[in-house]
Parts: sequence; C-alpha cells; structure tokens
Amino acid sequence: MEHQDEPERRAIARYYERGAEAFAALRGTRAMHAGYYTGAEDPATIAESTDRLVRLAGQRLGLGSGHHLLDIGCGAGQPALLLAEETGCSVTAVDASAGMVAAGRRLAAGSAAGDRISFHHADAAQLPFPGRSFDRALMLEVASHLPDTARDGKQAAFAEAARCLKRGGLLALVDMVEPPVAPGAGTLMGEVPSVHLSTRNRLEELLAAVGFDVLDVTDISEHTRYSAQRNRAAFENRRQELAAAFGADTVRRIALLLGQLAEADASLGYVTVIARAG
Ligand SMILES: C[S@@+](CC[C@H](N)C(=O)[O-])C[C@H]1O[C@@H](n2cnc3c(N)ncnc32)[C@H](O)[C@@H]1O
Repeated sequence: MEHQDEPERRAIARYYERGAEAFAALRGTRAMHAGYYTGAEDPATIAESTDRLVRLAGQRLGLGSGHHLLDIGCGAGQPALLLAEETGCSVTAVDASAGMVAAGRRLAAGSAAGDRISFHHADAAQLPFPGRSFDRALMLEVASHLPDTARDGKQAAFAEAARCLKRGGLLALVDMVEPPVAPGAGTLMGEVPSVHLSTRNRLEELLAAVGFDVLDVTDISEHTRYSAQRNRAAFENRRQELAAAFGADTVRRIALLLGQLAEADASLGYVTVIARAG
C-alpha cells in the first residue's frame, strides 16, 4: 500500500486499541516495543527489558530535567512516563489512536510525574505544535508503520519532527529495519496493519532529505532478537488465562502475531538512530 491512507489509519488504531489490554496482560507492561536483552540467558522480565530500551533511547538523547521531549507515536504512554519519572524531563506525547491517548492519560494520572506529561491525539505527519518548540524527540517503533512516501509517510513525519525541534535538538529513532537485500520483509507481519519497513540506509537518506544531520546509527538487533521468544514463552504460560479473559479469537490472533514476530526477529535488523535538527 502506497500511503497510510484513512482506512489504513483506522485499521492500525483499531489494532492497537483492540490488542492493548490483552498484550498488557500477557507482557506485564503497557510498553509496545521490543525488549533489550544481554543474551539468551538474560533473566530480565519483558517489562524490565522494554524499559531498558526506553532508558537506552533516553541516554542516547542525553535527556535531562530541563528538556521538553516530543514522543511521537507514544502508544499507551509507558515510554513517556518512564522518561519523565527517571530524567525529570517534560513530555508532550502524541498518537494517531484516540484509544492509546486515553490509555496514556490513565497511566500518567497514577504518577507524580503525570503533571509533566500531556497527551494529544494527532498524526505524526501533521503535528499540532509550533515550530522549534522541543529539545528532544522520540519515535519508538513508529516509523515502521509509516509508508515510504513524501505525503503522510516517513518523510512527512520526519519533516514534522525536524520542524518541531529546536535547532540542534535531537531525534531518536528506535525501530526494526529491513536487511539491505530483503525479499519484501513487510509481509512477514501480515497480522499487523500498516507495516512498512525500510533499510537503515533509506532511513538515513530520508532524515537527511528533511535537514537532519545523522549523528549515529547503532544496530542493536543482537539485543532485541530475543523479544519474540520471550513473548511466546509468556503466552504459552498464560494461554488459558488469556483465553478466559479475552476470548478464543484474541488468543488465536496473538498466537499468529507472535509466530510472525518470531520469523521477523530472525531476519530483521533493529537500530537506534540519533539525528540532529539543523
Ligand atoms: C508499536 S506501537 C509503539 C508505541 C510506543 N512508542 C511504545 O513504544 O510503547 C506504534 C504506535 O504508533 C502509533 N502510530 C501509527 N501510525 C501513526 C501515525 N501516523 N501518527 C502517530 N502515531 C501513529 C500507533 O497508534 C501505536 O500506538
């Protein structure tokens, strides 16, 4: 599909809204991204490993208490909350799904850092903020949902991030990438709507095209590749419980998705990209 058009947008919002509760129950966290593991024997829980990935992004951004962070595609707010709590920064968080924005608000309401986080229902390609208003920006597993188009796609989202960041402000892109020669890896995750993977070179090209200076690209796939098998193990342990709470259809779809993610984990890269706004 060329554009993340209206039906695709609705499909992805529905997908996250419908799956959010079951996934949170399965994984023990509201984070919706890969975990960072030291290796196959790492005893970290899924929640610990996903929080580690968020901390890594925060460290690579040099995030601190004076900063205002724009979290683009914030999901249910776990990364925003963790970064606000642990670094003292303020966060403006946006997501294209109204359900995720509501979930984020509920999560933040229970925290002392909650008054430093605001949630907005908005599309990454059309951010409702004035230019040059943020010190840092984060896109954690969001670009992989955006097609490679100038309008409504990755380039439009990167251009919006560049517009909203102050000069010299930093963007962290944390995401799956296609290997340089890939046989259409997007089809690996047919259960997830709107998956559009790019190579790391293409991401760098798109960032440069909208004025970012790419400072660092690090492949962390040797740390994230255990995520799918950890999710699968958690799923097998709690299958009956999940079926009772969420129904057989949800459980069938989770099983399908976890199988597809495991396949993807074996062949895809996973990178952190740090880019400076000009
Ligand atoms: C894999 S989840 C990651 C959520 C969050 N960053 C996290 O790590 O927990 C992807 C998120 O991107 C959001 N998203 C997808 N397309 C978007 C768009 N065009 N604009 C804003 N958010 C979008 C989805 O609604 C979803 O919440």
